[in-house]
Amino acid sequence: MVLVSVDDYEQEAAKIIPKSAYDYYKSGAGNELSLNLNKKCYDKIRIRPKFLVDVSKRDMSCEIFGEHFSAPIGISPTAMQKMAHSEGECANARAAGQHKIPFILSTIATSSIEEVAQAAPNTVKWFQLYIYKDRSLTESLVHRAESANFKAIVLTVDAPVFGLRRADKRNAFTMPPHLKLANFVGEKSDFKSNEGVSGINTYVASQFDASLTWKDVKWLLSFTKLPVIVKGILTKEDAVIAVNLGVKGIIVSNHGARQIDSVPASIEALPEIVQAVGDRVTIMIDGGVTQGTDIFKAIALGAKMVFIGRNALWGLAVNGQKGVEHIIEILKNELDLAMTLAGTPTLKDINKEFVIHESYYSK
Ligand code: FNR
Repeated sequence: MVLVSVDDYEQEAAKIIPKSAYDYYKSGAGNELSLNLNKKCYDKIRIRPKFLVDVSKRDMSCEIFGEHFSAPIGISPTAMQKMAHSEGECANARAAGQHKIPFILSTIATSSIEEVAQAAPNTVKWFQLYIYKDRSLTESLVHRAESANFKAIVLTVDAPVFGLRRADKRNAFTMPPHLKLANFVGEKSDFKSNEGVSGINTYVASQFDASLTWKDVKWLLSFTKLPVIVKGILTKEDAVIAVNLGVKGIIVSNHGARQIDSVPASIEALPEIVQAVGDRVTIMIDGGVTQGTDIFKAIALGAKMVFIGRNALWGLAVNGQKGVEHIIEILKNELDLAMTLAGTPTLKDINKEFVIHESYYSK
């Protein structure tokens, strides 16, 4: 089968990845209301094209934190990528580098900070941080990322524990025995599962610090020299606190709808956050993006960069680095086409006027 869309890749990946890992990658929390919203809410936004604009030359390049990127697309952190492909995070990071887009490495990756740094020296890499109860360990992760030339710390704030993922309970989800959480040694590098229990949820409940508050964001800001981005913000109230503390970026995200079910889609939460702090901080988004027009819509609503999580895993599963490269190429080509046909030759031309909620047309 010729694969021409992100959805084609997902279908193909489903045939390749073992069921328990596929379910782990694909699932959302609870009844998956928010998982469905993540995609449906993009579908409820209409594009209002403007014609007879010169679109013969287009440019989707952008700059974030002083780095130049070929497109406003990045790779979100997703855990345990070697379950999709033996080269896991290293292949994913190299694909991002090939396209000159940023790659975010998860704390709970199956390739270490140093391995990814060595495998993808020319990729702009950001490190996603989970704060462990063991604070000196947490601090050492940040210092390792700094030494390995990562360019930002992405602090995930929506996961004091992991959400209810029923498929993982049914499957008693655990990593294949040959894999490890490669940023750690000893007991923190592995987890076990029992019947009816997800091993990763048990691991997170025992290791992550559920007592975190905004003072811990201050703590992180006090010792890292890298820009801090908070990931998982869904309200303007939290966005204002984060910006007042001095974070440089926000990723509006509901964690791929894997934490609390019933939260809004990230694209629904984006406008209030842009309105509250859009002039003070770089606002980015992830969740539910499956085509170029979705990226166009997020940019129109004020996002500066749009990240993909699962899509990259599907590319990785189907064809390793080349598969991820093709996923990024598909999304770039689709965004370019959307920009051409909507009359917006550069990212700066894409603004709120170019989108409207479907309810407008039923008035
Ligand atoms: C995630 N996500 C995530 N986020 C994070 O901060 N650290 C992590 O380790 C992980 N791990 C993870 C694993 C898997 C399998 C998924 C699907 C997601 C959330 C991720 O960064 C991102 O927010 C979502 O994946 C975005 O939604 P889409 O693009 O998958 O719809």
